[in-house]
Amino acid sequence: MSNDQSSTRKTRPFSSTKPSPLDTRGSTFGRRTFMKRLGLAGAAALPAGGLLMSRMGARAAGGTPRLSPGDVAILKFLAAAEILETDLWQQYTELALGNLPFLKALQQLDGDMPTYVNQNARDEFSHQNFINQYLVSKGHKAVNLEAFRNLPSSQATGSKGGKRLTNLLNLTVDTSWFNRYRFPGNPDFGDSFAQIVDLVNVPVIPNSNLPLGSDAIQFIANAAGFHFATIEQGGSSLYASFAPKVNSPEVSRIVASIGGTEIMHFLLWEDKAGNAPAVPGLFPQLPVAPNGSDGNTFFPGDGTDPSQPDFTNQIMPAPCKFISTSLPLCSVIRPTLTANAGAKAAVAGLTASGLFNGQSSGFFDKLAELAEEADEATRDE
Ligand SMILES: [Fe+2]
Ligand SMILES: [Fe+2]
Repeated sequence: MSNDQSSTRKTRPFSSTKPSPLDTRGSTFGRRTFMKRLGLAGAAALPAGGLLMSRMGARAAGGTPRLSPGDVAILKFLAAAEILETDLWQQYTELALGNLPFLKALQQLDGDMPTYVNQNARDEFSHQNFINQYLVSKGHKAVNLEAFRNLPSSQATGSKGGKRLTNLLNLTVDTSWFNRYRFPGNPDFGDSFAQIVDLVNVPVIPNSNLPLGSDAIQFIANAAGFHFATIEQGGSSLYASFAPKVNSPEVSRIVASIGGTEIMHFLLWEDKAGNAPAVPGLFPQLPVAPNGSDGNTFFPGDGTDPSQPDFTNQIMPAPCKFISTSLPLCSVIRPTLTANAGAKAAVAGLTASGLFNGQSSGFFDKLAELAEEADEATRDE
């Protein structure tokens, strides 16, 4: 965490707005719903002893406790999400470590940014690898998206080339998470929050070699800095949405433990994005003037506008509405309801951002199927 830049700069956070409507292309009406109906019918026909046995945990071949269909669906969607996270963080890492102008521009946010990017990529790889291997250990197939690895790589120095699953060259980055985590509102109660910076159809990695120290590369690094947090806050909410649905204590442990690292990532990036330096003129999407006395990008409530609340150095999640308005405000991850934070909401948000631009209909069909089945999971199946 040591860094000359950040130690002298103010830091501030953010968040994301309303999820867009789910991409329903190729929506699969419920293979899983059908299976659930079959499952219910089967349970109703079981004698009491048989039902008790099934609830105590049937065992697969080899004595391994069998996972419920819902737990499998949750793990499969998480494996897919982590594969996609790995793909985008891998692209970031190649350029953060291998493209000097991008590396230097990221270091304007924090001298350790390239290392942090690399660590985040490492973590995502471990998530998808672990979840898939866990599925295999329980007798299920690993999730494999390699058939959809068809998108082009950046042409800039540092990129290792080859085909990708995600597209970082033209993104609309939702930055409303900053405000979401500063106020008592909560999307689960219908509240929405303004963007902190408008990043519409922008690259978040360079696609060509840009001059060291140029406004162009700094703008891209700034946009990436915001996108880092956008991705990780989404992961934080996604895991929290699954927590109440899990049956197996071990899967519950997996969801809580991996979900916790998504939150750790989010907090780091939330802090660092507040250090994004102003980029004069060239890119109208970012505020032009160095409004902050520290010369950083202007953030609402950075202490320079007396009409705004002062959020300087406010990076912890402010208490918000949770469960019921009759209960006290609570500092929590938000949103966490399936409609706002679940698998379908995650797919919709990522699709709307442009992260999958260029992907095939088969890719969207696959994600929609996995998302639908995960969101339908319930405890005590
Ligand atoms: Fe992850
Ligand atoms: Fe993540």
